[in-house]
Amino acid sequence: MLAKPDQANQPKLLVDGLAKSYGPAVALKPTHLAVEPGEFLTLLGPSGSGKTTLLQMVSGLVAPTQGRLFIDGRDETQTPVHKRDIGLVFQHYALFPHLTVAENIGFPLKMRGLSSADIQKQVAGALEMVQLGHLAGRFPRELSGGQQQRVALARCFVYKPAIILMDEPLGALDKKLREHMQFEIKDLHRKTGATIIYVTHDQEEALALSDRICLMNHARVEQIGPPHEIYARPRTAFAADFIGISNIFRGRVECGADGATHLATASGRLRIDGDNLANDAEMALVVRPEHIELGSAGENEVRGNVAEIVYAGSETRLLVEVAADERVTVRVLPGKPLPKLGENITLSWKPEAAVLVTP
Ligand SMILES: Nc1ncnc2c1ncn2[C@@H]1O[C@H](COP(=O)(O)OP(=O)(O)O)[C@@H](O)[C@H]1O
Ligand SMILES: [Mg+2]
Repeated sequence: MLAKPDQANQPKLLVDGLAKSYGPAVALKPTHLAVEPGEFLTLLGPSGSGKTTLLQMVSGLVAPTQGRLFIDGRDETQTPVHKRDIGLVFQHYALFPHLTVAENIGFPLKMRGLSSADIQKQVAGALEMVQLGHLAGRFPRELSGGQQQRVALARCFVYKPAIILMDEPLGALDKKLREHMQFEIKDLHRKTGATIIYVTHDQEEALALSDRICLMNHARVEQIGPPHEIYARPRTAFAADFIGISNIFRGRVECGADGATHLATASGRLRIDGDNLANDAEMALVVRPEHIELGSAGENEVRGNVAEIVYAGSETRLLVEVAADERVTVRVLPGKPLPKLGENITLSWKPEAAVLVTP
């Protein structure tokens, strides 16, 4: 249980044990989460991990099976969707086809009873924010996918909801446009200070945008933290594998009589450190490609044949077969010498570059 929110320093959003089942199927196990004012939190995870379910319960579109939800310290669990101060942006823009761009953006303001002078002013500001001033009079069908999504963003940001929820808002766009829109969303976040909960299954998008990532798997939170922490200190093999490229050596713990601990893996015995490791426990050692060096270093090393050399522009990736069906990815920066295909090489890393995780 999280502490009850106190009046002064309370989170914008507190998810207190929210859970959802559909009959016997568990869509989300009891989940606790606090989102700070102005934070950009991303729910990241594979398809079916419960991201949309959690977001929809925050929006009020889906009623929880159990748990409570607080916004600014108020219990809003029973508040209907239209009374929650929340903005939504989904993958499919759902603009009104019969309204112009300016009318679409002004719609939520009109619903809230603002004067037409105020609406005009705020719509102009929002149009400028997403650089669509010149298209104010167009209809949605006269816009590209990216432009339509920018209108949807402007329509959401314009009325300054307490919390903005976005469910894969860039999912329908091609890669280049998606990257461009990521910058726009980040920029909007900076300019408005909005609290944003963003859903994606794209780990690069999550790393690029978020203050914190809430990594989800099998209907629960796997790990939550700032992008650099989840990348550098994953707690499970799933987290290491889902975010970035990982080399994962699975094996069993061998506690030596001399106090030294090793992991017996298919690629050899690797030195590990850790408290309370049980002899014979299954664990995994994670080493990121950029931490692996070519050549011997004494202790933390494996040998294998170069199976693949992949040129990726800013780097070259080597795939080295260190055991049957086990390949290690190594990053080599431009200008560094490359081994030959099939060559038998030694790979090593510094002890502090390896992270011990549960398998
Ligand atoms: N209306 C529903 N009825 C039954 N099962 C559902 C419903 N909505 C979601 N689920 C199930 O809940 C799980 C989580 O779904 P969802 O939250 O949509 O995942 P994600 O957004 O991470 O892809 C999935 O197994 C999905 O099939
Ligand atoms: Mg979803």
